[in-house]
Amino acid sequence: MPGSRNNFKNSHQPAPEIVINDLSYHYPGSTQKVLQDIRLTINKGTVLGLIGPNGAGKTTLISLLTGILKHTNGTMTLGGYSLPQFTKQAKRLIGYIPQDYAFYPNLTAVENLQFFAGVQGITSAKRQLRIEYCLEFCQLQKVLQQKVAEFSGGLKRRLNIAIGLLNDPEILFFDEPTVSIDPQSRAFILQQIKVLQSQGKTIIYTSHYMEEVEQLCDYLAIIDQGTILKQGTLQSLQQEQQQQLIIVFKKTIDEYSLKHLKTRFKFSIHQTQLVFHNVANMAIYNQIIEQVQKMNLPITSIFYGKHNLEQIFLDLTSKKLRD
Ligand SMILES: Nc1ncnc2c1ncn2[C@@H]1O[C@H](COP(=O)(O)OP(=O)(O)O)[C@@H](O)[C@H]1O
Ligand SMILES: [Mg+2]
Repeated sequence: MPGSRNNFKNSHQPAPEIVINDLSYHYPGSTQKVLQDIRLTINKGTVLGLIGPNGAGKTTLISLLTGILKHTNGTMTLGGYSLPQFTKQAKRLIGYIPQDYAFYPNLTAVENLQFFAGVQGITSAKRQLRIEYCLEFCQLQKVLQQKVAEFSGGLKRRLNIAIGLLNDPEILFFDEPTVSIDPQSRAFILQQIKVLQSQGKTIIYTSHYMEEVEQLCDYLAIIDQGTILKQGTLQSLQQEQQQQLIIVFKKTIDEYSLKHLKTRFKFSIHQTQLVFHNVANMAIYNQIIEQVQKMNLPITSIFYGKHNLEQIFLDLTSKKLRD
């Protein structure tokens, strides 16, 4: 619809592809807010890692952005189209790879692709080309005539992705695409997401696997209990962290030595490890090491640095189990 898309041509900033402001949501019939005051801007070509424990609200946020759910509070635009008014136009830009499998197990791979190409309104002129491209992109050519019910977990995930790519979307949502699959399929899926990234696609990626998010994503949003706790590049999240020194000893440290160390340094004890917090410079680092050596405490290994994403995530969301 003319005039409905914002014009970012004159801006020197990269064009924001998705803009979410003050978004809150509760499911119909419930008063409990599952999303609260979400603010997030995702630039074109960015791979956003949306990470959070079970029940944090990741799938709900994706369902709102893909027009499956309708929000009542706050504003959202995709590719310049605001939701829910322009959901139809926004949907043309979107590819959605859901957390649960979304295909017919009694059909073959190619029958599923033909069916979903029809549902997505892909013109018959383009349909065959897109199906062939998606089959190749997800390496499904060898199983295209097989019933999907017979597929392994990895093949099912790849078919899920192929269906999401049919309409050649600019914006892609991957909701936990590597859950319960073998390492080879996982490596293949990550590699293909990198290909999509190199094509300039905007990608929203949710996963429990921090190492995946670390290698794929340019920008991270850590979400828990419906709120974004932190967002930024991995570098910016790490910059806020203190340097810590972890010394692993051959055996647990005796009470006398601990008492002595406590008079000079602040640390916490985890079995045979001592974790010294806020070791801001090498002078403090050397003092600790010298003291430990003077006391003849046998060291197995030393780690000095900032928290990795997994530690940042656990610090923010607490280590309590989520079922
Ligand atoms: N259809 C629904 N009706 C009511 N509550 C729901 C529904 N789907 C999810 N929820 C609740 O919303 C919260 C967020 O769920 P979800 O978005 O699926 O989290 P995540 O994807 O991060 O695991 C959870 O407390 C969940 O129980
Ligand atoms: Mg989910």
